[in-house]
Amino acid sequence: MALLLAQAVDAVKREDFKTCEQSAFCLRHRQFAEGIAETAQQPGLVGSDQPLRSASPYSVVPGSVRLDRHTLLALVEHKDDGVPLKFELTFLAGGTVRVRAQEEAPLAPRFDDTQRHTLRDEGSALPYASPESLQLSSTTANGAVVHTVNFTGEAAASSVRITEQPWSLTYLRNDKPVVQLNSKGFFKFEHLRKRPDGDDAGSADGEWEETFRTWTDSKPRGPESFGLDISFVGFEHVYGIPEHTSPLSLKPTRGGDKGGYDQPYRLYNLDVFEYEIDNPMALYGSIPLMLAHSAEATVGVLWLNAAETWVDVAHEKSSFIGSFFRRGSAGGEPTVSTHWISESGVLDVFLFPGPSVADTYRQYAAIVEQTPLPRDFALGYHQSRWNYLDEADVLTINDKMHEHDIPYDVVWLDIEHTDGKRYFTWDGAKFPNPVAMQERLGRDGHRVVTVVDPHVKRDTSYSVWSEANERGFFARTKDGSSLQGWCWPGDSSWVDLFNPDAAAWFSELYHLDRYNGSTRNLFIWNDMNEPAIFNGPEITMDKDALHDGGWEHRDVHNLYGMLYHKAAADGLRTRESPSLRPFVLSRSYFAGSQRYGAVWTGDNTADWEHLRASVPMVLSNNVAGMHFVGADVGGFFGNPDATLLTRWYQLGIWYPFFRAHAHIDTKRREPWLLGEPYLTHIREAVRERYRLLPYWYTLFREASLTGMPIARPMWMEFPAEKGLFAEDRAFMVGPAIMVVPVTDSDAMLPVDVVFPQQENWYDLHTHELYVGPARRQFSVGLADTLVFARGGSIVPTRERHRRSTALMRRDPFTLYVYVGRAGTAAGKLYVDDGESYGYASGAFIERDLSFANATLVSRPSARTAAGAAAAQASFAASMSGIRVERVVVVGLRNPLTQATVREGGEERTIDLHCGGSQVDAECVVRDPAVRIGGDWEIALA
Ligand code: NOJ
Repeated sequence: MALLLAQAVDAVKREDFKTCEQSAFCLRHRQFAEGIAETAQQPGLVGSDQPLRSASPYSVVPGSVRLDRHTLLALVEHKDDGVPLKFELTFLAGGTVRVRAQEEAPLAPRFDDTQRHTLRDEGSALPYASPESLQLSSTTANGAVVHTVNFTGEAAASSVRITEQPWSLTYLRNDKPVVQLNSKGFFKFEHLRKRPDGDDAGSADGEWEETFRTWTDSKPRGPESFGLDISFVGFEHVYGIPEHTSPLSLKPTRGGDKGGYDQPYRLYNLDVFEYEIDNPMALYGSIPLMLAHSAEATVGVLWLNAAETWVDVAHEKSSFIGSFFRRGSAGGEPTVSTHWISESGVLDVFLFPGPSVADTYRQYAAIVEQTPLPRDFALGYHQSRWNYLDEADVLTINDKMHEHDIPYDVVWLDIEHTDGKRYFTWDGAKFPNPVAMQERLGRDGHRVVTVVDPHVKRDTSYSVWSEANERGFFARTKDGSSLQGWCWPGDSSWVDLFNPDAAAWFSELYHLDRYNGSTRNLFIWNDMNEPAIFNGPEITMDKDALHDGGWEHRDVHNLYGMLYHKAAADGLRTRESPSLRPFVLSRSYFAGSQRYGAVWTGDNTADWEHLRASVPMVLSNNVAGMHFVGADVGGFFGNPDATLLTRWYQLGIWYPFFRAHAHIDTKRREPWLLGEPYLTHIREAVRERYRLLPYWYTLFREASLTGMPIARPMWMEFPAEKGLFAEDRAFMVGPAIMVVPVTDSDAMLPVDVVFPQQENWYDLHTHELYVGPARRQFSVGLADTLVFARGGSIVPTRERHRRSTALMRRDPFTLYVYVGRAGTAAGKLYVDDGESYGYASGAFIERDLSFANATLVSRPSARTAAGAAAAQASFAASMSGIRVERVVVVGLRNPLTQATVREGGEERTIDLHCGGSQVDAECVVRDPAVRIGGDWEIALA
């Protein structure tokens, strides 16, 4: 393992990618912050009994503050430059505050469309606070002018205080500071300016031109970056801002903390070959959403900017903040200070005040649409490799899965299936009849996914290239010609998806009459959409390349992948009428990408370190609202041994997106090639995934409405247990299942499991009881996995072995009741047709299941009532034959003998089969035959 580790660490080509010091604007802001921090250390500032102020040169222009309906307006100026900045603070319902800033009269417009691409309804209809709920007051104390807006946040009196000189903003809940902006004085705004005269005037500090290796960025607009410190007062942990390979609780990046990084976290979508673990380098996706959590509260920040962004994190004690707001306090509240730096665009930040995890996600979901319900098959097992060679190969995969009784849903085709990497085509020799192939797979409910990458081969005989070329749809160089670069097919161009006509045209290429050889059974994988350009700076597009409206690539870089993903999702959605839900996997993403499909963590490596790192990566994405995510099971590069591959399946079934994938140079590794006992263990794991699909689907329903993550860090379910705040091995799948992956090759090593809270936990397979709080060690053989059901939960399953999800659609359900310490349990079941948008008009069944007084009760959830009655009734009728075939009650105090079933005014008594000990009995109600859509009760006695 040591050798593998060393290989992985050596492999990434760091020199291909910039450090903060090599990114001129990042360096300017970091140096500015260092200067400010030094000044703040000087005696006379810290420790004086004056209200402590940072050394920020930016102040509110006196007399400029006013409240206009739900927005507070203020002008802020640097003491030397006389360029007023317009600040807008908008108050939203639920206590969210949005802060925007840019020049009051910019020399040229700044890019401000990130909101249009990310926010609900393009940002046009945010849930504003009512103007009557806001009161502005202003005071002067010791010469300091402070403006306060009082309002009602989420169940708490809240206020925002703005000091004038220098400016800073504090969000307070019940008079306690929670989040502060510019309290450290790192705010710096590079206003747009005219280029100074002279030959190389102004190129110092990389303001007007910057060279990295052999590439020169011409920067025609000069410096336009900005930075701001955001401090979370009373917090020791921050999470989110994927995509990095750091631990879940983000390590500090400066401030002298031991064991931290020396670089900020970078958000700049990049194709990083053989990325390394435990690193703040940028990767394929960027979501500038950060959460802070303490035993008292959770809060969030969305930094809505799609340009290159860096985030420094420091763990501090906030003495001056504490003393400013609470005189006489000893100070020293733990604080996480962050410093956000973006290259261009406007400053646009949302503060979500929580205070619970659910509140924070509700506040985020109010402004950004969450993961929509996926196609049911997309939650199944995806079998991929670069590449399945031809039709015979694909059909063999299908046959072997059947032969070995492994359920699966999708076979994936990577770039080699095309005619010379011309996407939307097939290699005719290898895939002479793709339609017949898809139909053959479709007989058992299986599907095909093909890859469509954004580089368009420059070839006049390729219709995609010639149409785009004719219509001027390609992104352009700074000189206005079609941008050219190198990727898989050789010389290529990239469609400018910021041009709405180009995006509409491109999405239609996915239609059945445009994409030859595609059927309704074919779905899409978008890879390389950062975009990856092999001969571009940092393997991507030049920042001074141009998009629709004359915007530079610099302004929009982190949006490109999302718009490419959107075009595919739009294309699939509109390829048939009525529309069915699309399925599209993307490598690159931004905040809001969750609306278009799944993502994965890119090119990982087949070693234990990458297996371990996949957990915090999947969790960090979930924290940031990207729920439908997984890592390549088995590892992309290299050959996993049979133990690693088995363990990876045993973990991978708990990723929301579950796909096995491998590099073209690796050995074949489909499960049956491993032989026994591995094949059996893998089959068992995959079957576990299928058994629990009703639970997974219900979690996706929850996520779609509330934004609650699917794969959850332990702290989300146990928010007061400090010992779990940095846990990034064990995690929760929804509220009911705890997964403790085995992440080591040595089976002899005992695995530590922490059972949180005063609660019962049951081994998911043996139902053995563990009572929390407790820490236990388990010795595990390869057949053993450490997965536990939380007492107090009800988990719906389907237990019949089938070949695919489609073949399970009319199967009966089994309900598991895991009795909690209080003798009760609760859960949900959500069912719809798994493919259409009928759910939007009420065609679904959603039940609240509860267990108390030894009685299991099914009632409609409040949401069912909100749907349209006709659609509901007809869906319920279509499901009337679907019953509960078994109820398993785990953890009863005493074995009981009979079950009374009440449904539709009728009552029946059936035998109950109980086993186990007096204190921990397990009872099975065989075939109570209640309908899943009906109201019923099963009383045990
Ligand atoms: C890079 C992707 O990350 C990988 O999954 C894929 O197999 C190769 N490109 C080839 O398409």
